[in-house]
Amino acid sequence: MSKENIAPATGKLGVMVVGLGAVATTMIAGVEAIRRGLAKPIGSLTQMGTIRLGKRTDNNTPLVKDFVPLANLNDLVFTGWDIFEDNVYESAAHAEVLDKETLAKLKPYLETIKPMPAVFDQHYVKRLHGTHVKTGKNKLDLAQQVMADIQKFRKTVDRVVMIWCGSTEIFLEPSAVHESIEAFEKGLENNDPGIAPSQIYAYAALKGGVPFANGAPNLTVDTKALLELSRQTAAPVCGKDFKTGQTLMKTVLAPAFKARLLGVSGWFSTNILGNRDGEVLDEPQSFKTKEESKLGSLEYIFQPELYPDLYKDIYHKIRINYYPPRGDQKEAWDNIDIFGWLGYPMQIKMNFLCRDSILAAPIALDLVLFLDLAKRTPELRNLGVQEWLSFYLKSPQTTEGLYPEHDLFIQSMKLKNTLRHIMGQELITHLGLEYYD
Ligand SMILES: NC(=O)c1ccc[n+]([C@@H]2O[C@H](COP(=O)([O-])OP(=O)(O)OC[C@H]3O[C@@H](n4cnc5c(N)ncnc54)[C@H](O)[C@@H]3O)[C@@H](O)[C@H]2O)c1
Repeated sequence: MSKENIAPATGKLGVMVVGLGAVATTMIAGVEAIRRGLAKPIGSLTQMGTIRLGKRTDNNTPLVKDFVPLANLNDLVFTGWDIFEDNVYESAAHAEVLDKETLAKLKPYLETIKPMPAVFDQHYVKRLHGTHVKTGKNKLDLAQQVMADIQKFRKTVDRVVMIWCGSTEIFLEPSAVHESIEAFEKGLENNDPGIAPSQIYAYAALKGGVPFANGAPNLTVDTKALLELSRQTAAPVCGKDFKTGQTLMKTVLAPAFKARLLGVSGWFSTNILGNRDGEVLDEPQSFKTKEESKLGSLEYIFQPELYPDLYKDIYHKIRINYYPPRGDQKEAWDNIDIFGWLGYPMQIKMNFLCRDSILAAPIALDLVLFLDLAKRTPELRNLGVQEWLSFYLKSPQTTEGLYPEHDLFIQSMKLKNTLRHIMGQELITHLGLEYYD
């Protein structure tokens, strides 16, 4: 495979964002600030990352964006849906992530982005009461209305990607309706309760060949039916739930313990946050969806079945508490009980005072740009799940029968080797024997 086979990133890339809340508005405002030279794209691998090519002695380390054909930030056009009518300026002001001064400079642009009415049902997000919503005779009708929104937007741009930055829905498990595309389409007609709004958007996107990313832990495309549709229409998807704060740190620390064969007996993680996401997660059924997503990483990294003496009895507990005074500035505490040589116990305490949406925005941007690249790459676009994008997600998805990789460094290597591979460059294994010939 070589660069010639990848379609160029010419023209406008339309970005359809579901949920214009804290993360989405921070991404959109951030892109505009960067386009105007007011800020740097810190945290974005597509914008600031580099990639080594060839030997260490070759001194060839271009920027990722100069190596693979990615859409230029100047070519991004944003639109979206929300259950509230606020335009992106109003919603960003409400989220209080970016300061008033920055938002004032961007106001004329941000005000032009007004949400389309959303597909919403309070059954799936109990804490929100939205009024800016579509009505239809059944879920299929609602999906068709989203498809019509996509069609209309498509006329104004050259390519389209959809990303869910909406709220966390209640915990749902795959059921009969998710077994095949046919069952799913029947379920849309029959208003099957197993189909949440996020699945309706995803279906509408995939049906039209539009790549879809999921920033929340919702079930959404993690089902047989939608994965089949993704492959059928060559509309790439990735895993779920932006890997931003606490889980990012977990997937950095846990691989270090495992590499050094240090045991872990307990990992207690707690969070306080006061944004709307925190309010939604204060509701037990939405929290359950988030909890499942956050719990998975340690289990997979530690492989207790291979290391029973070290990791069989870990007590892993996660708490999220809604605490309004803190707004988007989350605080996370971790207490990790580890043990070393001859079983002697030790403790690690971690206190991460982070900004949720500042960490999530560059991830959302990178996912949009890389999914668009995947769609233009013949070798990737028919795969369905893009496992190489696991790097960005708390719940990576894989093809059936594979366990997901959670270790951030494996994920980073997988991502960069995928880029080398599609560009016809040699993979980097870090073997290094060639330097000693
Ligand atoms: N910020 C982070 O670090 C982070 C990390 C991982 C995951 N996430 C997830 O990303 C999502 C967005 O987070 P946020 O902080 O921006 O939350 P937010 O509450 O500020 O924004 C979510 C927006 O989605 C809208 N919405 C809800 N249901 C919708 C629907 N069916 N259609 C259209 N719009 C809908 C809400 O009205 C709201 O404006 C959440 O699910 C959150 O759990 C965030």
